[in-house]
Amino acid sequence: MKSLLLDGIETYAFDKTRAEPEYLARLAEQTQAEMDFPQMLTGRLEGRLLKLLVQMCRPQFVLEVGTFTGYSALSMAEGLPDGGRIVTCEMNPKARAVAQAAFTASPFADRIELRFGPALDTISMVDEPIDFAFVDADKGNYTNYYEAILQRMPPGGVIAFDNMLWSGAVLDPKTDDDRALAELNNTLARDDRVENVLLTVRDGVQLVVKK
Ligand SMILES: C[S@@+](CC[C@H](N)C(=O)[O-])C[C@H]1O[C@@H](n2cnc3c(N)ncnc32)[C@H](O)[C@@H]1O
Repeated sequence: MKSLLLDGIETYAFDKTRAEPEYLARLAEQTQAEMDFPQMLTGRLEGRLLKLLVQMCRPQFVLEVGTFTGYSALSMAEGLPDGGRIVTCEMNPKARAVAQAAFTASPFADRIELRFGPALDTISMVDEPIDFAFVDADKGNYTNYYEAILQRMPPGGVIAFDNMLWSGAVLDPKTDDDRALAELNNTLARDDRVENVLLTVRDGVQLVVKK
């Protein structure tokens, strides 16, 4: 992923952000060693942001789209209040196996449920209110995820969309994924149902609050 920031600033932000727990650092190393496209893992900076957001919002139910090896789900689990839980979905068998092993070995095994299959199917089967969502898979479907999650979200619910700067491609969209993300950014900036801010953290995080 291309850095959009001044040389050294991303490293400085990483260094000045609290380190993740040892088991998460190990999971990041394992992902690097064993998985294709290990750069998909959110990592320390965004993981700590997700933990803090969950800590602030105190959701009872979190939905994640795109588990990969489980780093972001485990980061959010650290911030959950008592009784809070996470459903996360993935459709790659290898990623599922690594993530499930990491969840089982973590202090949050009883709070994270991994569902295997396309995210839109998982979302359609959720029947409790989604208080907090993290969307990080399958860019062409982001608008579909937005609508499906918003329908199931109470006022005050929060959605964080990852990769909303898409290495800068949203400035001059050329591919279908570029256009899908640029269009969702346009929608979010004027949709009366929500408030939003596009953070320039890592590859861009759209933070959306339902009114
Ligand atoms: C960017 S990675 C997620 C990274 C993860 N949030 C983390 O921090 O490590 C996206 C993941 O979504 C999965 N995926 C892609 N399309 C999907 C879909 N339609 N439903 C569920 N998962 C999907 C991919 O297999 C991939 O593992």
